[in-house]
Amino acid sequence: MHKNISQHRILILDFGSQYTQLLARRIREIGIYCELVSWYVTEEQIKDFRPNGIILSGGPESSTSTTSPRAPHYIFDAGIPILGICYGMHIMTIQLGGKVESSRQREFGYAQIMITKESSLFCNTNDTLRTGHKKILDVWMSHCDNVVETPSDFITVGSTERCPVAIIVNEKKRFYGIQFHPEVTHTQQGYNLLEQFVRNICQCETRWTAVNIIDDITQYLHEKIGNDTVMLGLSGGVDSLVTALLLHRTIGYRLKCVFIDNGLLRLNESQQVLNMFSHCLDCNILHIKAEQRFLNALIKIHEPEEKRKIIGRVFIEIFEEEASKFHDIKWLAQGTIYPDIIESGMSSVSPTRVIKSHHNVGGLPQCMTLRVIEPLKQLFKDEVRKIGIQLGLPHTALQRHPFPGPGLGVRILGEVKKEYCDLLRCADSIFIEELHKANLYHKISQAFTVFLPIRSVSIMGDERTYDWVLALRAVETTDFMTATWANLTYEFLTCVSTRIMNEVPGVSRVVYDISSKPPATIEWE
Ligand code: XMP
Repeated sequence: MHKNISQHRILILDFGSQYTQLLARRIREIGIYCELVSWYVTEEQIKDFRPNGIILSGGPESSTSTTSPRAPHYIFDAGIPILGICYGMHIMTIQLGGKVESSRQREFGYAQIMITKESSLFCNTNDTLRTGHKKILDVWMSHCDNVVETPSDFITVGSTERCPVAIIVNEKKRFYGIQFHPEVTHTQQGYNLLEQFVRNICQCETRWTAVNIIDDITQYLHEKIGNDTVMLGLSGGVDSLVTALLLHRTIGYRLKCVFIDNGLLRLNESQQVLNMFSHCLDCNILHIKAEQRFLNALIKIHEPEEKRKIIGRVFIEIFEEEASKFHDIKWLAQGTIYPDIIESGMSSVSPTRVIKSHHNVGGLPQCMTLRVIEPLKQLFKDEVRKIGIQLGLPHTALQRHPFPGPGLGVRILGEVKKEYCDLLRCADSIFIEELHKANLYHKISQAFTVFLPIRSVSIMGDERTYDWVLALRAVETTDFMTATWANLTYEFLTCVSTRIMNEVPGVSRVVYDISSKPPATIEWE
């Protein structure tokens, strides 16, 4: 019998912490469905969601400011367990009658919490037993404000030297406040603590597993599509590949796959993608060559959001034209994932700031004849990979570095021209080739080269040249929502830079990007 795998669910109220998405991933990793919504969600929306538990995230603001965000008061009367993390703990304290003060002493980084009383929140965590049989939690803190007075029905059960009120609980109401961040791996018992909250305190069953997700999506696709035919735009990435497999096993030959070469692909990418798909999927793929059409649409366009929207629009125009040739195609399937929706500011209950319009989300035209179906739109990247493994995809396909739909269009800053694409393709292939040779490709999460529309002076064989600047970008990340720049060795960078300067005409300088996300996004545009 089909289980409703998202029936047991956690709602995360997002107050803007850079770790909120990580928190959502952790809950999903535990095996429980959760969604992230903005703190200004309404009472009706919360009731409609029917959460088994609510988590109040951290946030950048000070709860001591009267204009800072608050949780809808309804949640404190709903009889649902609540876990407040950092800022979330502060507003719960204030909203329930306690007191928070700003401190001049920030606490940032590693800290040890002394557990002074038992609580159901950490009864299953393996606390380190240290001096005098005291229980100690190794945690990661990041705060300036402190709870100085708990609400009357709460007790303090943990403290650090600098923060006397680090964990507060009201066991009767099942309300918990923690000053540290359990979602970051530096908090050693963080995962166990979250698991304790969602499984035992909120009584959620772990139904959110790869096998169940596949069954659930398959059933959803059956119900939604019926006997219709679907067109799927393949990009070559793991998201569209997994979407293709899920659709193919559900509707078989009624899936028509289209691969559009928009001229913004990497060196030999068309052929590689077609080979990979034919290896993984027993299905004909329509290959459309549309380089000139995309480049024409991008003439004199400099602004990144505008470029993204144009690329998204041209993709859809081509899909619709191709679909009309078949007569019976009603749906356009896309490999959109949850972070694409969040970053494009399109989440239904959480219209957050637009970071960048992912071509397949924010770039969709208003009136489309095809209906869009996005089977992965609730999933994070690592969940998609887990499904891919379950569906038997080869490691090489699953571990390919992601490549954005707008391709080189967002890796050439400013106006996109064919000559820039050609130059970038050559340089990028050298970078990737060297990563493979040095056995680094699979150790880092994503690497690519960026074309900067600035010229600089160099000397080549006693001649002065005035040519383009390229940037190398390599990052390490598990979720692509946060990332750190990859610490590639000087020797490796020297080798890549020397090869690019020698082998790619028109390049005067190669620089390495040492910005992490946040604040810098992975792609430059
Ligand atoms: P950012 O630049 O937002 O990138 O830090 C996070 C991840 O998303 C990829 N990316 C995209 N993927 N369509 C896509 O399919 C897009 O419009 C898009 N923009 C960014 C990016 O390559 C990285 O892996």
